Amino acid sequence: MRLYILLFAVLILQKANAQNAPFYQETFRPQFHFTPPIHWMNDPNGLVYHKGEYHLFYQFNPFGNRWGHMSWGHAVSKDLVYWQHLPLAIPEEKDTMIFSGSCVVDAQNTTGFATKPGEVPMVAIYTGHIEGKSQSQHIAYSLDDGRTWTKYNANPVLDLGKKDFRDPSVFWYAPQKKWVMSVVWPFERQVKFYSSPNLKDWQLTGSFGPAGDTSGIWECPTLFEVPVKDQPGKSKWVLMLSPAPYMQYFVGEFDGTAFRNDNTGTKVYRPDYGPDYYAAIVFNNLPAAHKPVSIGWVNNWNYANDIPTTPWKSAMSLPRELTVKKMNNEWTMLQEPVDRIESLLAKPVYSGKAVVTGTKPLSYSGQQWDMECEFTVASLTKAGVKFAMAKDKYAEIGYDAARKILYIDRTKAGEQDFNPAFAKQNRYETALNPINGKIRLHILYDNSIVEVYANEGETVMTAQLFPHWNESGIALFSDGSTTSFNKIIIRPMRSIW
Ligand code: FRU
Repeated sequence: MRLYILLFAVLILQKANAQNAPFYQETFRPQFHFTPPIHWMNDPNGLVYHKGEYHLFYQFNPFGNRWGHMSWGHAVSKDLVYWQHLPLAIPEEKDTMIFSGSCVVDAQNTTGFATKPGEVPMVAIYTGHIEGKSQSQHIAYSLDDGRTWTKYNANPVLDLGKKDFRDPSVFWYAPQKKWVMSVVWPFERQVKFYSSPNLKDWQLTGSFGPAGDTSGIWECPTLFEVPVKDQPGKSKWVLMLSPAPYMQYFVGEFDGTAFRNDNTGTKVYRPDYGPDYYAAIVFNNLPAAHKPVSIGWVNNWNYANDIPTTPWKSAMSLPRELTVKKMNNEWTMLQEPVDRIESLLAKPVYSGKAVVTGTKPLSYSGQQWDMECEFTVASLTKAGVKFAMAKDKYAEIGYDAARKILYIDRTKAGEQDFNPAFAKQNRYETALNPINGKIRLHILYDNSIVEVYANEGETVMTAQLFPHWNESGIALFSDGSTTSFNKIIIRPMRSIW
């Protein structure tokens, strides 16, 4: 009898670790990052705030766990932390897929879609994609706060007869009382700016690019006004876009017709210096005092379809609050996870200081935590944090004082062989200067995703890794000489599911 019970228990455990684990507790499933219940997801689309709800639409395949049949999936949140899944918003139709785009609230009914007093149309502006043939801009509207959608009967609203012309990002430009669209010509590495009084008739007003990183095709532009940190009333404009498979941003001015880059020179500025952050856009229609908030897709087109997760594929980044600051005469975008994420923090399991030489394992292990740490960097030393550890497995986030770089290295972490491109993209570095001799890291680790915010959020790195449940050790390390960690706090994070 005992043997049977034991066998039964083993079977159940095996099942729990396989595909039939309880929903949202499957192997590698992030617990505080958004994932669709099942199937494939890529870019965030149509981020918009309306009547107390944050809407997240996303590129979604309703039929499977790889890219295809692109349609808009939908979820809403009251706090940017907990998400409620809603039915498919905009399905592909016949030969036309619903590619990326944005969503606006047409409060003045410029479209005329509202037919009764009190109705406020939400309007989605997206690319209608006919495989191998054409891409043009389309609209669809909802008169019930995003619950049901109707495609406009005179689509497309903007068609140049081009094969590649996509990802319209639209917002209301109050100073000139008009809608503005940024949209890309991917292969030309250009963002085109259009204006419209009614979301139906569009006029070309300006163009930007090629500039910065032109190595990959340009996708998913987003243009927005950002407050300058610690200078109330001051703001700049940021143009962010995705040169595949990474992202870049420009900081400058927008006059309603075209964008001017104020960071001159050839340096490329990225919102994220890790391997897995793409297609980020910002929320439309946020209340005036709200800082801009972005969400990005945590994956990389070089291996996205093959990551070893099932029954879902891909996650969204944490929502990030954005400001800009002039540092060493360069405009830099600063990012922090939205404060409300703190509601998920459990009590600290580790808190204190440490003087470290070599590797110092911590007593706590886990795969779902938030760590704040600050250390003084001795010269010729590499120091930081190892996690997802077991025997010879680990991932490493470190600062190399000799080279003044922050790096993330997943070479020895978790599963690697699901796609050869993954192992080729295992180490990422970016320049970072200490502040008063110190490096400050805020690391949020969530099973198969890690996000690192360095110093004031001037550098962020996001990476996927696929460690098994027993690869969960954490250690501090200092190679070269001794490092003083003057602050380490680790708090487990609760699940949002
Ligand atoms: C970016 C992208 C977009 C396109 C969408 C299709 O990841 O290639 O340019 O609209 O994905 O799913």
